[in-house]
Amino acid sequence: MNFSQRALNMQESPIRKLIPYAENAKKNGKKVYHLNIGQPDLETPKEFYDYIESNRQKVISYSHSAGLPELREAFADYYKRWNMGFEYEDIMITTGGSEAIIFALSAIADPGDEIIVIEPFYANYRGFAEMLNLKLKAVRALPENGYALPSKEEFEKVYSEKTRAVIFSNPSNPTGAVYTSEEVKRIVDFAEEKDIFVISDEVYKEFTFDGRKHVSVMEFEPKERFIVVDSISKRYSACGARIGVFATKNKKLFAQAMKFAQSRLCSPVVAQLGTVGLLKNLDEKYTEEMKNIYQQRRDAVYEELSKIEGISFKKPQGSFYVSVELPVDDSEEFVKFLLNDFDIDGETAMVAPLNGFYATEGSGKKEIRIAYVLEPQAIKKACRIIKEGIKAYNEK
Ligand SMILES: Cc1ncc(COP(=O)(O)O)c(C=O)c1O
Repeated sequence: MNFSQRALNMQESPIRKLIPYAENAKKNGKKVYHLNIGQPDLETPKEFYDYIESNRQKVISYSHSAGLPELREAFADYYKRWNMGFEYEDIMITTGGSEAIIFALSAIADPGDEIIVIEPFYANYRGFAEMLNLKLKAVRALPENGYALPSKEEFEKVYSEKTRAVIFSNPSNPTGAVYTSEEVKRIVDFAEEKDIFVISDEVYKEFTFDGRKHVSVMEFEPKERFIVVDSISKRYSACGARIGVFATKNKKLFAQAMKFAQSRLCSPVVAQLGTVGLLKNLDEKYTEEMKNIYQQRRDAVYEELSKIEGISFKKPQGSFYVSVELPVDDSEEFVKFLLNDFDIDGETAMVAPLNGFYATEGSGKKEIRIAYVLEPQAIKKACRIIKEGIKAYNEK
């Protein structure tokens, strides 16, 4: 019996693969601050559970493959508030934003085709591409430019006849960059010139700091070129609910993606119901509160990181991540060291090595991603652990 080359080639999630080290640290009595994964500590709003309870079903039956009608309607209303122009029929409920990305890539690219990514990028883009035998072609965003969008020339360099789409997250995981209108337009213009799709992953669109505004790809034309990926995971601190959205104005593309949706029947119906409760009963006030909480956390991480000598990073503008270059030879070894061999008063921290967020081999070797998803005090403590940890690691 053999395993597929596809499975053998696939990388482990850089966010999750070091978890056994954290489990071991905990077994040895250490407290671990988890800044490795985008799992917020905030409570999932009670509106989620209330709606499920008051719409209790005798039978939890399958829903339509594109989702419960009331949920698609609720999302259509929500997107109207954001002027994104999506109607009921443009919205497909998926099992997390993850499934929306898989549907998008599956519907527009064949094995061997190429997808342009802006590296460092959300690591699972690589996982999904590997699952589907697609090739990622990377343009590099540089920390010294605040991870701004690379120039058109850089995009030209990686474009080929096999390119089918550009995929990017805005605000960015893992850099925290928030693209300006000019930057988003540059991607759109490039896609238009080359006749390819744009997959715009907007799962962090609520989290933009210092008065910045999120620019959706839906502000531009032609809309049939765009697929928007969305998710309730971070917005409502409901990662485990597994509810996302695949949205497009392109009816033919929607019909192709529907075939994938039908083959997996439907997304979890109980969680779909809870999401109706979230969308109907939480308004801009909730969004504003969440944004402020993450901005405070961003300030905490920025303040503490600024005290560490020899590191380099840019103040994040959005999402809840920061990419940081450390004065260590190998960030993955450093993460293992923090978990295995280091603590302050029985406490240590876990972060994600950034190598898995690049397509270009050998990149990100000294970088980490910090997810500032804990309370400011915990973030500060974790940053101090990283600071002292760097000294101890380099002295060993
Ligand atoms: C940029 C980005 N897109 C998509 C996802 C997938 O989210 P989910 O499948 O939980 O909706 C994540 C999760 O971390 C993400 O950071």
